[in-house]
Amino acid sequence: MDTKVLSSGIRYSNLPESYVRPESERPRLSEVSECEDVPVIDLGCEDRTHIIQQICHACMQYGFFQVINHGVSKETVEKMLQVAHDFFELPLEEKLKLYSDDPSKTMRLSTSFNVNKEKVHNWRDYLRLHCYPLHKYVPEWPSNPPPFKDIVSNYCVEVRELGYRLQELISQSLGLEKDYIKNVLGEQGQHMAVNYYPPCPEPELTYGLPGHTDPNALTILLQDLQVAGLQVLKDGKWLAVNPQPDAFVINIGDQLQALSNGRYKSVWHRAVVNADKERMSVASFLCPFDRALISPAKPLTEDGCEAVYRDFTYAEYYSKFWSRNLDQEHCLELFKN
Ligand code: OGA
Ligand code: NI
Repeated sequence: MDTKVLSSGIRYSNLPESYVRPESERPRLSEVSECEDVPVIDLGCEDRTHIIQQICHACMQYGFFQVINHGVSKETVEKMLQVAHDFFELPLEEKLKLYSDDPSKTMRLSTSFNVNKEKVHNWRDYLRLHCYPLHKYVPEWPSNPPPFKDIVSNYCVEVRELGYRLQELISQSLGLEKDYIKNVLGEQGQHMAVNYYPPCPEPELTYGLPGHTDPNALTILLQDLQVAGLQVLKDGKWLAVNPQPDAFVINIGDQLQALSNGRYKSVWHRAVVNADKERMSVASFLCPFDRALISPAKPLTEDGCEAVYRDFTYAEYYSKFWSRNLDQEHCLELFKN
């Protein structure tokens, strides 16, 4: 392949060798069924206790859920998806100015996951941004398309608000003080991955993203409404989470699994690709500040319940995560007591 990214305008007729998974690791798409009972939580509901119960159930049974009436305006969401789309439509030379495969960069266009560490590549390009504090990072964001900075800044502010609300609800659903999670995570970082999955000539042989858990605290995912591709692992089976209008998919990240002493699951999920249509998604990640000390919440390790994980700082966890390949064992396993 002669370009660094997939979104070059070339339509491939065969899957290049470096994307082909060994037989045993392929997605087996025909065996995937639709997740019929994705928890959909209405955050506009006036009964807070009911919302908290639903969150508790969803986090224990699924590790993910969808939210509606979440407070992020429809206009903000539509503009975000449009500008993300316009970005990937830019001429290749324009995009390549932003290309980097160095995960420590705070703004970069890249491809696959970790091109220098992985054996097999993934059928994805992505734009990765740091988003908090905005005044620090917006200047380095793409200035093309021209409205990009404004639209994405707005989106980030509204999504962060939603993230805080969810963390309060999640804290309470664990029987903790409303501000418990916020207090432990400190001044939270916010990152964004704008994912672009081009049509793939042989979707049975590869992934957009292979099965992984998110290393952060909480992920707020905006899925393309037209094209499905997100799948989650439940009871050993991969299930498709089809996009639902006006909803975000929320998933618990590794840090909340550790903080909840394993009660809530950082769910395994993956993105599969298809032969006909490009797919986009926008993932927003809330992350503990670097020196945040992650340990199981005290009230959850009383009554003879042992701490499942040792204490660690987020910086330690994050560098471990990026030193590995995406589809290895759960990174948290390395922090078990
Ligand atoms: C991610 C992710 C899923 C998707 O970016 O971490 O899991 O549907 N994305 O794009
Ligand atoms: Ni993910």
